[in-house]
Order: sequence, then structure tokens, then C-alpha cells
Amino acid sequence: MTGEETGRFGQTPNDVSMMAEGLKRSSERMDVTKSPIYEEVMAYIGDERTVLDIGAGVGRFTGPLAKAGCHVTAIEPSDEMLPHLQETVTKQGVADRVTFIHGAWPLDEPIHAEIALAAYVIQFSNSIAEFALAMKRAATRRCILAVHVDPLMGFMEPLWTMFRPNEPAPHMLNFADIYPQLLAADVVADVRIFSESLGPRWSNPMDAAPMIARRLGILDNPTSMERLKEVLQDRQEQFTQPRDHRAAVISFASHP
Ligand SMILES: C[S@@+](CC[C@H](N)C(=O)[O-])C[C@H]1O[C@@H](n2cnc3c(N)ncnc32)[C@H](O)[C@@H]1O
Repeated sequence: MTGEETGRFGQTPNDVSMMAEGLKRSSERMDVTKSPIYEEVMAYIGDERTVLDIGAGVGRFTGPLAKAGCHVTAIEPSDEMLPHLQETVTKQGVADRVTFIHGAWPLDEPIHAEIALAAYVIQFSNSIAEFALAMKRAATRRCILAVHVDPLMGFMEPLWTMFRPNEPAPHMLNFADIYPQLLAADVVADVRIFSESLGPRWSNPMDAAPMIARRLGILDNPTSMERLKEVLQDRQEQFTQPRDHRAAVISFASHP
């Protein structure tokens, strides 16, 4: 089943290219070493300086962590994302400290590192508990998750209601969905909610119209396309302003 069929975001090539663009913009805009996620890794790293970057994406954390002398195993299942990840590692001159694994978490083979980091990944998993418990088995010092508190794709909800009124809007799991599932699996964690300013979603929402239309399934419908462009035009300000976004660092002990 594809992401579009399940209504879940993150599984189609369209979703992945949207995600890669967003992550690249974010890498350029912000100093990742100032992020509470990076700080949490550094607070727990040990003498080996080994990190599993689960769902490494374009290498937003892999690059800076390797630059700081960590040995990073970057785990990434997406064919579309891997070239971006490799490019980041090469550009930052840290290829000798990064090992790539082309696969999805949990892996079939056992793997170990001091820190198991999964930043904005667990929401794509079919089993939150399995994902987190596999992190506990893999880490020797600390497991660190980052999840969205505010819905990242919230802007799609009103559009969905407009263009696909008879179907539920896609929902990306966020903190409110994930944390109770961790508790139920006996994963009791320290939680730090933080806020960061994200840049404008797009400099021109019209550039995003084809991607949004593909997601809504209206790309081949000229009347709906016209309407979507009008709606995006009307809401231009919402998309072109920087926005505050809350996220959570969920940090828990590795297996005793
Ligand atoms: C939103 S991106 C986050 C990337 C990176 N961690 C960051 O914060 O910049 C999510 C990434 O997780 C990957 N992913 C999705 N499901 C995964 C799984 N089960 N195991 C590992 N990675 C996964 C996606 O391919 C994507 O690259």
C-alpha cells in the first residue's frame, strides 16, 4: 500500500522529495549544533563517540556529528534520500567517519552504538513500541527521539477538507500520539519541549502547487487546479511567513 492510499505522509516519492527539500533548507538556515537534539547527543556521548543516526535523511545530524569527531552509522531506507545524504557527507569532508546502512529500522541484524538517535522518524513506523525497544537494545548509553509537537503538515488539513471532503485528512503522528505508546511499552523518558522558528514554508506557494495537488490527487483536474491556485494565492501570507514550531526531545535509558 502506498502512503497516498493509507493517507500517511512520508512514503511516496512525492513526499520524500518534499521532505528532502525541507530538510536541506533547514540545514542551510539553522546551526544544528545549537539544537536541543544535538545537545542531548553530546550530553550522553561516551569515549567511543559512536552514534546510530536512524533515518538520517539528508544528513542534517550525521554531518555535524561526524564533524564533531563522532563515528556515525547513518541508517536510511529511502533510495531518493541516499544521494542527498552521501552528498552532505562528502561536502563536509567526513566520509571517513560515516558508515551507511541502506535499510529500515528496526534492522534484522543486531547493531550497537553508544547513542541511538532517531530525529523525526518514529512517526513513520508501523510499531512505535518495536521501534523504541529496538533502540534500547542497540544503544549502550542513551536513546534519543525527536518528534513534532505541532503538526508539521497541518496546512494540508483545510485543503483536504476542501478537495476531498468525504475522506479523513492524512494525519502524521505527533507527540500526543507517540508518547502514550512509549509509556505503554514501559519506555519512561525525559521530555524536553522546545520551540524553534522555522523559515517560510515556501517563498512562492505557487511553486508548491504541483506537489500539493499530487498529494490531493487533483493534478489532472484543471478546475480543481485553478481553485487550488486561488486558495494558495489567498493564503499566501500564511505560507511565506516564518513560523514557530514546537518539538520534543524524548530521551531514555538504553537496555540495562
Ligand atoms: C523527516 S526525515 C528526518 C531526517 C533526519 N533525521 C533529520 O532530522 O534531519 C525522516 C527520514 O526517516 C526515514 N525513515 C522513514 N522510516 C524509517 C525507518 N523505519 N527506519 C529508518 N529510517 C526511516 C525517511 O526515509 C526520512 O529520510
